[in-house]
Amino acid sequence: MVDKIGIGVRACLIGDATLNTVTRDEISPQAIEEHASGGDEGSLSRRAMMARPWHPWHDERVLRCITCQEVHPLRDVIYRCASCGDLLDVVFPRPIETGAALAAMFRARRMSDNPIDRSGVWRFRELLPFYDHDSEIVTYPEGNTPLLEAPKSAGYAGLRRLRFKHLGFNPTGSFKDYGMVTGVTQARILGMRAVACASTGNTSASLGAYAARAGLLPIVLVPETGVSFAKLSQSLDYGALTLMVRGDFDVAQALLRTLAPRLGIYILNSVNPFRLEGQKTVMIELLEQLGWEAPDRIVVPGGNLGNSSSFGKALRELHDLGLLSKRPRITIVQARGAAPLSEAYEGGHSETLVRVHARTLATAIKIGAPVSWKKAARAVDWSDGWVMSVSEQEIADAKAVIGQDGIGCEPASATTLAAIRRLACEGTDERIDPDETIVAILTGNVLKDPDYTVRYHQSSLFEEFRSETIVTDHGRPLTSQFANPPVVVDATEEALMAVIQKRLATIG
Ligand code: F0G
Repeated sequence: MVDKIGIGVRACLIGDATLNTVTRDEISPQAIEEHASGGDEGSLSRRAMMARPWHPWHDERVLRCITCQEVHPLRDVIYRCASCGDLLDVVFPRPIETGAALAAMFRARRMSDNPIDRSGVWRFRELLPFYDHDSEIVTYPEGNTPLLEAPKSAGYAGLRRLRFKHLGFNPTGSFKDYGMVTGVTQARILGMRAVACASTGNTSASLGAYAARAGLLPIVLVPETGVSFAKLSQSLDYGALTLMVRGDFDVAQALLRTLAPRLGIYILNSVNPFRLEGQKTVMIELLEQLGWEAPDRIVVPGGNLGNSSSFGKALRELHDLGLLSKRPRITIVQARGAAPLSEAYEGGHSETLVRVHARTLATAIKIGAPVSWKKAARAVDWSDGWVMSVSEQEIADAKAVIGQDGIGCEPASATTLAAIRRLACEGTDERIDPDETIVAILTGNVLKDPDYTVRYHQSSLFEEFRSETIVTDHGRPLTSQFANPPVVVDATEEALMAVIQKRLATIG
């Protein structure tokens, strides 16, 4: 394996530094029609103009509409406001403990033998007060994921330091477990028998496992093509009724929305605000790991936009509780072929979102109509954040670099490093300073999509996809810049010696 990354700021100049963009002309006519008319093919999106007022608390535990502020009982089986149809937040009274006292309570629980205290989600339960009795709580346990130094990735991006919070260390291998545990807990409280989701593969894996452990029937709708085998194998193994829908994620999500109430099944997509409550704890855990010194920036991949939404809500609450030294700028990264939020910001109209026909090899985020976009926009605006997209070439190479740090992740997660590199090396409207403290969120385990990884290293990743043309860079086929192909070798000492010695010579 040849290390092509180098160190420090120099790395920006190493390798093929061309940052591929996809022009509108390369998207199908149908997709162009679905896209907003504003914007250009530029690589960066603009920041939102102003933050809307956002009060985090309420004097009772209720569901509150993010737009008209209408409140609904906590135990209603609803996902949207009955008055205006917009998304709902779980809101509750401000916790009694704040600041250092709250932080000390969170920390003390790590020494406990109680599974609820040890869970990386329920350890922070003062910010999850929607249940009445500990006996209602489901836990695997989940969370407690590592914060990892990534020197090679930092060098690749031209930064002095970069850390990854790797949510792929959860029981089902992705960040979904942080929210599924709270969603399934609410499903049990409500007395539901079956829970369901539309998924690009990770939500379905997580829902399958958590529902099975809670004694509920898991029902998952996944696109017939494009879901990685690893993820599909999980929902099958956990006993989920696995429906391979002849349509994409967005179609499956829309179908489930109308079907679920008729069938009396509970939706556990991120439109469900109880899912997002659990995902808040990613931020709480991260800040605790950083000694409550907030980073300058948190970079997160965007698909259905649940994660970024919940990060915003967590930071808003922690800010009010005196646990946030500054507002980290939430930076959402989408794949160029599935970037409706980025396009909305580019066009300067973050008030509306136009659905796109999603295309990307990062199948986890192949979503054209993200349900939580308004909450994500709220998070970006409040944190003075940023929204952008990156190309297939950038994602694939960034993923290989993260691998060289001995970390690994699934393709969607690598959008983060690709974006950081772009902002550090080429940023104009938005620029990352080499000394910024940055945490990038890796959302899924490297084993989630082995087919992608092996194809990249065998330089065959883009073969199949070329017909869709979206991943070409001005007609040029994409390449695996950091390929580390397997070597087929004769079963003799001499043959092995020759190959190994050749490699040893490259490390000096
Ligand atoms: N990264 C991974 C690995 C994912 O699986 C997803 C979403 C995202 C990022 C995007 O997160 O939706 O909160 O913005 N996967 C969903 C699924 C859609 O069905 O597994 P988001």
